[in-house]
Amino acid sequence: MLTCQKDKFSLDPNFIYLNCAYMSPNLKTVEAAGIAGIKKKSQPYLIREEDFFNPVKEVKKRFAQLINSPEAERIAIIPAASYGLANVAKNIKSKGKKNIIIPGEQFPSNYYAWEQIAKEQDLQIKIISRPNLEKNVSKIWNEQILDAIDEHTLLVAMSHVHWADGSLFNLKNIRAKTTKHDALLVIDGTQSVGALPLDVQEVPVDALICASYKYLMGPYGFGLAYYGPAFDDGKPIEDNWINRKHSDDFQNLVNYQPLYQGFANRYSVGEQSNFIFIKMMYEALGQLLEWTPQAVQNYCSGISESAIASLRELGCTIEDQAYRGSHLFGLRPGHNFDMEALKKQFEEERVLLSLRGDAIRIAPNVYNEEADFMRLLDCFRKVKKGASIY
Ligand SMILES: Cc1ncc(COP(=O)(O)O)c(C=O)c1O
Repeated sequence: MLTCQKDKFSLDPNFIYLNCAYMSPNLKTVEAAGIAGIKKKSQPYLIREEDFFNPVKEVKKRFAQLINSPEAERIAIIPAASYGLANVAKNIKSKGKKNIIIPGEQFPSNYYAWEQIAKEQDLQIKIISRPNLEKNVSKIWNEQILDAIDEHTLLVAMSHVHWADGSLFNLKNIRAKTTKHDALLVIDGTQSVGALPLDVQEVPVDALICASYKYLMGPYGFGLAYYGPAFDDGKPIEDNWINRKHSDDFQNLVNYQPLYQGFANRYSVGEQSNFIFIKMMYEALGQLLEWTPQAVQNYCSGISESAIASLRELGCTIEDQAYRGSHLFGLRPGHNFDMEALKKQFEEERVLLSLRGDAIRIAPNVYNEEADFMRLLDCFRKVKKGASIY
């Protein structure tokens, strides 16, 4: 069982930071690794040829371990989720299929890529909107997504939890249905990987794309992607020297090389060896592997449980635990609350979270504790319509 890990971070104790879905704070070790990386270039002779390759390999190994892939070469270094998705989109062929399925109000980086492909290849984008219901929303949303997948489906692009309200998607079931109909499954793991287990052997997704600055606790401008066998012979969106075979032979780089390195290596961004980011990511992944995503998930559940029960008693709607993330969930305040008053109260109490659509998004992590949720609860108690001022 994890205990509170706030000592490993430098958060200001005067703020209640419940917004990891916006951006994680740096671990102290990650900050130190970044500073060491900056300093290294002040003496460039300390950067050796192997530093272009070995740290990248180590990061890939750690990420592969985190998602339980036995093949670290299926991991690519990307600068943003949009880049990882663009590599997928570039290699999509309609093969006579008719549609791409996405859940409603998906994050824009996981929408624009498909909009473009749909135009080019005359495909329909089928958007499965969040059901407008009072109860069992995520359960029914999952059923509707499953029902929509059929022999005409080329690809399903989604996430493990919805970025705005944490609705949990059953990827195992969705993988089974997509496999049945020979459709690809592409997952944006930015809002889940690191804090919610995803095992690519158990759920063999075709691609898993993650920006690193949220639940992976890495730097902004960096990310990691897993590409399955469907992309082994694909074309990357750019051609850089380091992704070609024998790129470690610096003397022979201008003997241009037609072959890529194997598996997903071809999809990594130019200057992937970034001596600052790669060290930061290495440290962050080491810490996540030590904690484990399941333990992070359990920890977030434990510290929020009691406040959630009280918030429901006050009239707020929060999805049942089985159908949402514990590290990211939406709260719909309902008629008992004025949203403007709530916002003001959050500001006064220095409770930091985000509003996404009609939901208040609550996104804890291991630096939070139960007391943080009590302060959140206090905000609601103070502004509830008709609340006694005594
Ligand atoms: C689900 C999801 N994917 C991706 C991103 C970031 O996308 P990108 O790396 O393309 O800026 C975010 C940012 O909020 C997100 O919520």
